[in-house]
Amino acid sequence: MIALEKATKPLKGDVFVPGDKSISHRSIIFGALAKGTTEVTGFLESADCLSTIDCFRKLGVQIEHSMRPTNGVPTITVHGKGLYDFKAPDSTLYTGNSGTTTRLMSGILAAQKFDSMITGDRSIEQRPMNRIIKPLSQMGAEVVSVMGNGCAPLRFTGGKTLRGINYINPVASAQVKSCIMLAGLYAEGDSVVYEPALSRNHTEIMLSSFGADIHNEVARDGSAVCILHPGMPLVGRKINVPGDISSAAYFIAAALIVPDSEVLIRNVGINKTRAGILTVLTQMGADITLLNVDESSEPKADILVKYSELHGNENNQFVIGGKDIPTMIDELPVVAVLAATGNFDTIIKDAAELKIKESNRIDTVVSGLTKMGCDIEATDDGMIIHGGKPLKGADINSHSDHRLAMSFAIAALAAEGTTRIIGDECVGISYPSFFKDLQGLL
Ligand code: S3P
Repeated sequence: MIALEKATKPLKGDVFVPGDKSISHRSIIFGALAKGTTEVTGFLESADCLSTIDCFRKLGVQIEHSMRPTNGVPTITVHGKGLYDFKAPDSTLYTGNSGTTTRLMSGILAAQKFDSMITGDRSIEQRPMNRIIKPLSQMGAEVVSVMGNGCAPLRFTGGKTLRGINYINPVASAQVKSCIMLAGLYAEGDSVVYEPALSRNHTEIMLSSFGADIHNEVARDGSAVCILHPGMPLVGRKINVPGDISSAAYFIAAALIVPDSEVLIRNVGINKTRAGILTVLTQMGADITLLNVDESSEPKADILVKYSELHGNENNQFVIGGKDIPTMIDELPVVAVLAATGNFDTIIKDAAELKIKESNRIDTVVSGLTKMGCDIEATDDGMIIHGGKPLKGADINSHSDHRLAMSFAIAALAAEGTTRIIGDECVGISYPSFFKDLQGLL
């Protein structure tokens, strides 16, 4: 448990947030699938990404942590096996709390010559896996939910021949898309995934940099398409992981909550499929400036945030929905906190996916903010936040959800009295040094 008080002075200073979680996972996964070595700097050493390393070690992949002798930069070296040289694991692969590890690994396990099992913690064993079981089965894989409930543990039968797929995914999900693309690397024929809006495209960017023939298109009806032609050799490479915008989001929100704050967050990934929070908050009146923009394939920038009073439209309302949602899905809890401190109503819609994250984030955000005195209601696909009521300190259960723990730590900065976050250690899932870094700005 951690106890936090209302901020008594502005947040000032600059901070480096740790590496992007989605990109870190992919650097290990694609490095393992490639031939040759992949050297990763900026890797996020959090519980989720360490689960990915652990799973690949169980498949016989050698992965080392070291310091680069020249400059002392921590580096992960993956000695790739290529697609066909993994060894059968001795035991069930354990993915901890990581949905990305579970779903992306499943695309690979479905195509191996050996049988395997995968599972994770209690949260993972409640998250929907039919969304990958269905397309993988259509591709010819044999994968079953051991308990018959559509969740992990999942059992894979080896030796199946996979075929490419044309899959219309009703929701935008990078985990589902990436799972299919990874299975597609082993399949006969192309794999094509359609989504209602483009989900984060780190797989497309990084896999093509390893040599895969994969790209995005926009369909005539506006849906996003991802196309993979398998068969190209994957070759190891160097990867530098930018800072995680999902982690930066907490400090962006903190600077916008505490009057007179000014915070510079350095070297943050600003890929358009992830940066919805910057666009939406700017529309709400936030003073956010991008400095030192580096337009590489995974663009990055320093983000300067100055305290600003947020506002709604002429009806004193702000609506967040549609194609913006996938670009800021993981930031919605902290955006809800921010909205609670504004003097207007915020409607978050088209975000039913929140229900199946590390916790049911519609329920957990609404109950936590209600406890803090906010006027907020849950809806089927989001929430309505009637901002403007002063927040008061409360005991908030993290529900073992890292994003919830960090979002409520930011709410605490605006709340009168003491806020206790119960189960705050879950921040280690994505941001082990979060409280230390927050303290550094206070
Ligand atoms: C992720 C995709 C998103 C996101 C998650 C990480 C990824 O999940 O919420 O934190 O790395 O592919 P969905 O694919 O379920 O939208």
